[in-house]
Amino acid sequence: MGKIIAVASQKGGVGKTITALNLGHCMSRFGSKVMLIDGDPQGAMGITSNLSKQTELGLMNLLKNTAKPEEIVFTTKEKSMSVVWLGSIQPADVLLLEDEARNGTFGMLIQSLTEDYDYVIIDSPSGVGGIPASLLSISDGVIMTINCRAISLKTIPLFLKLIKSIKDQHNPKLTLEGVLITMFDSRSAMEKQILEEIKKSLPGDVFFKTMIPYSEYYEKASLYSVPIAMMPKGVQAARPYFELALELKERELMVEKEEVSDEDIVGLF
Ligand SMILES: Nc1ncnc2c1ncn2[C@@H]1O[C@H](COP(=O)(O)OP(=O)(O)O)[C@@H](O)[C@H]1O
Ligand SMILES: [Mg+2]
Repeated sequence: MGKIIAVASQKGGVGKTITALNLGHCMSRFGSKVMLIDGDPQGAMGITSNLSKQTELGLMNLLKNTAKPEEIVFTTKEKSMSVVWLGSIQPADVLLLEDEARNGTFGMLIQSLTEDYDYVIIDSPSGVGGIPASLLSISDGVIMTINCRAISLKTIPLFLKLIKSIKDQHNPKLTLEGVLITMFDSRSAMEKQILEEIKKSLPGDVFFKTMIPYSEYYEKASLYSVPIAMMPKGVQAARPYFELALELKERELMVEKEEVSDEDIVGLF
């Protein structure tokens, strides 16, 4: 089964969807088989990836038994990346979804789709409610995105408490992959000051070294419904997300290395 990573945060508008899409895409360019899952009833990933123009079907239909798995998983132009969304949902569906999230069915359903993938990246809705909690309950790792605004700084403690309580009560394997600073405007003195405050609030190694700069290119790529690297000359602009993909991989390798014992290292064959 693939490694499941949720991109999550307490606050909205802090780059979760853009991160899930671009990180997933960069990982697929590096050779991993990636599934992107839109776990947000607002369907931002479905829209940002153009999937909403391809189909009305999604996880909600699987929950209601009105579609089969093969009818909701869509391979993108980038053959090693697929996308699934909740589908075109009605307000009443959200109540059903919240119930199914609380009783664990929604999470199990997502897990049942992940078999053939190296990485499953979930775009979580904002907040600490039942849907984000259910997504964290089935994830191996979580990337918390944050921008350098005062309100974001204040949301960190509550969200970390949510991660800890889910780890303690439901999902011992859940690991904080890292905190990712997004939309950083290095020309803003205010953002630099808040960045310092954010960095002081947590141990240094919790943060990814990579920071995602503010760039209108991201908004433009959203308009075209593609990851940035698929835009003309986009590979250069997507560099921070390629670096994030490498850093994530590097962090995984470091953990694996610590688990190797001396007997395991005698001879390459
Ligand atoms: N690095 C960035 N620079 C500029 N705009 C960005 C950047 N990342 C995201 N955005 C834009 O900010 C808005 C919110 O981002 P989004 O990923 O949807 O946040 P969330 O999923 O946390 O609500 C979107 O319009 C998106 O295009
Ligand atoms: Mg979003």
